[in-house]
Amino acid sequence: MTTIAFDVYGTLIDTDGVVSRLREWMGSQADVFSQTWRSKQLEYSFRRGLMRRYENFEVCTRQALDYCCVEYDVSFSAEQKDALLRSYRALPAFPDADESLVALKAGGHRLFAFSNGAAEAVEEVLRASGLRERFEGVVSCDSLETFKPNPDVYRYFMKEAGASNDAWLISCNPFDVIGAVSAGMKAAWVKRSDRAVFDPWGIEPSVTVKSLNELCEKIASQR
Ligand code: 2OP
Repeated sequence: MTTIAFDVYGTLIDTDGVVSRLREWMGSQADVFSQTWRSKQLEYSFRRGLMRRYENFEVCTRQALDYCCVEYDVSFSAEQKDALLRSYRALPAFPDADESLVALKAGGHRLFAFSNGAAEAVEEVLRASGLRERFEGVVSCDSLETFKPNPDVYRYFMKEAGASNDAWLISCNPFDVIGAVSAGMKAAWVKRSDRAVFDPWGIEPSVTVKSLNELCEKIASQR
């Protein structure tokens, strides 16, 4: 029985889901705004981890939104910002998420959501997208007051999930895959786009897949 940790934002849950609302408010700049918002959110989590100035992931998300409003010279009202942040708790799942989770669970694997997000925010977005019941549990880095890719959070995951050495991380985020492999887990990189680039650090994913649907077969082939 393999224990599998799924990254949440960007892997199961599509963070570009805010784009349609942004498009109504700012037209064609919405896509680049959403991408910058996401990369600033992650940058803030990395920097807070390094500086040991922990605030939870929602604070990183809110401060990244404030940053983007200045960078793109848009003046959203407090109500508009609140609405965007609320929509972050109701983001859609990627289309391949549910069926892959069902198949992996049927294959006898133990599934967990494993995220930088605080447990209650992750529980909420997974419930809203209909994925929550597929998981045995939610493990949040918030319990350690630091973020991925600190090696402690991957070790914490393995301990919390009661996982053997055979634990996997599934993520679209190369920094997360490298963090997990470096901390002793196996990891699948989900390369949804042909243009996605993996960091050339010499630490490779155990497997690379184009969609979550390929996971069952690939994980079985690595046993
Ligand atoms: C997550 O932990 C990194 O966004 C990513 O859910």
